[in-house]
Amino acid sequence: MGVSNIFNPASLCLLKSNVRQTQRPIRSFEGNQKGLIMATFSSSPSTVSVEHVNQKLSGDSFIRPHLRKLSPYQPILPFEVLSAKLGRKPEDIIKLDANENPYGPPPEVLEALGSLKFPYIYPDPESRQLRAALAEDSGIESDYILVGCGCDELIDLIMRCVLDRGDKIVDCPPTFTMYEFDAGVNGAQVIKVPRKPDFSLNIEAIAEAVEHEKPKCIFLTSPNNPDGRMQWVKKHDNLIVLRTFSKRAGLAGLRVGYGSFPLSIIEYLWRAKQPYNVSVAAEVAACAALQNPKYLELVKDALIQERDRLFKLLKEVPFLNPYPSYSNFILCEVTSGMDAKKLKDDLSKMGVMVRHYNKKELKGYIRVTAGKPGQTDALMECLRRLS
Ligand SMILES: Cc1ncc(COP(=O)(O)O)c(C=O)c1O
Repeated sequence: MGVSNIFNPASLCLLKSNVRQTQRPIRSFEGNQKGLIMATFSSSPSTVSVEHVNQKLSGDSFIRPHLRKLSPYQPILPFEVLSAKLGRKPEDIIKLDANENPYGPPPEVLEALGSLKFPYIYPDPESRQLRAALAEDSGIESDYILVGCGCDELIDLIMRCVLDRGDKIVDCPPTFTMYEFDAGVNGAQVIKVPRKPDFSLNIEAIAEAVEHEKPKCIFLTSPNNPDGRMQWVKKHDNLIVLRTFSKRAGLAGLRVGYGSFPLSIIEYLWRAKQPYNVSVAAEVAACAALQNPKYLELVKDALIQERDRLFKLLKEVPFLNPYPSYSNFILCEVTSGMDAKKLKDDLSKMGVMVRHYNKKELKGYIRVTAGKPGQTDALMECLRRLS
């Protein structure tokens, strides 16, 4: 077969096979008896042959111990899968479960994506055009800015660069769930400082946790417009401010997030990040979105107006207790003996998606994204039918 036996008992194998590559002998990794070898196969039939797969060790024995205990992330269903499951066309689904911006990006984005010149060339590892545009947009020099494949990537990158195994982070649930998830992936310990009953941050308890637990990172979420806060990293060597294009520019599907970082930290993130983390399409789209700030502002105003209308309407529902919100979603306590999970399921059968979490702090709650006026009306009609 021309393939040496690299599949020794104590090794896992990774081979990268390109599309339609001809079969080549693979050299033996003789000195690597306890090593890890891996294989990534492209979409066409692979020509790499596995001559011998040792049966003694199961795959999970290769997995790092702390990852074997990791709970899976609770994702929402992809739109197409959801559409097939509900037997409804995607455009007939009222999607208020993932805090997406239903207006999408400004028209410049689709035009720019339709005329991509060099999709076959790897992207700029430094996302120079986008960082320059963001510097203009935010008022902080591009040296302080790093762009990622969504804020999600940046949160993971920060943890990878900062945390040693066993280090602690402070998380303030209920909150964005990726902090806890990424801490788990990075082997960190999560110190939970729950929010107050009105879901505001418990500052005294956070200060206490900092004093006693000595965490390496504290994650705080605060919905805000792009304002002077990005500049604060110039004054504080221990502050990072993250922002996303997912909400403001309706680009959740293209994955673009960014942050401002102290220069003494960003240097190391540059070294550790994946070189091509922001795709050509993502950078082009984000730059195009920033060219139309008027559109972004109009959409923001429309969503704020709709959120406030939604809040008033939800307050009238006898089995819901909505909490005031400064973001693009409203959290509602489900009251009057109604089960929150069942409510979510009943709404989904009617084509209206809202979010429910199994986590203990949020078991009796649903979360509703602020959408377009027609989406609010459809949700309210379904809630009326369930009353
Ligand atoms: C507080 C917070 N941080 C980060 C993110 C993730 O942003 P991105 O879509 O850029 O990964 C979200 C998304 O909902 C969020 O709510």
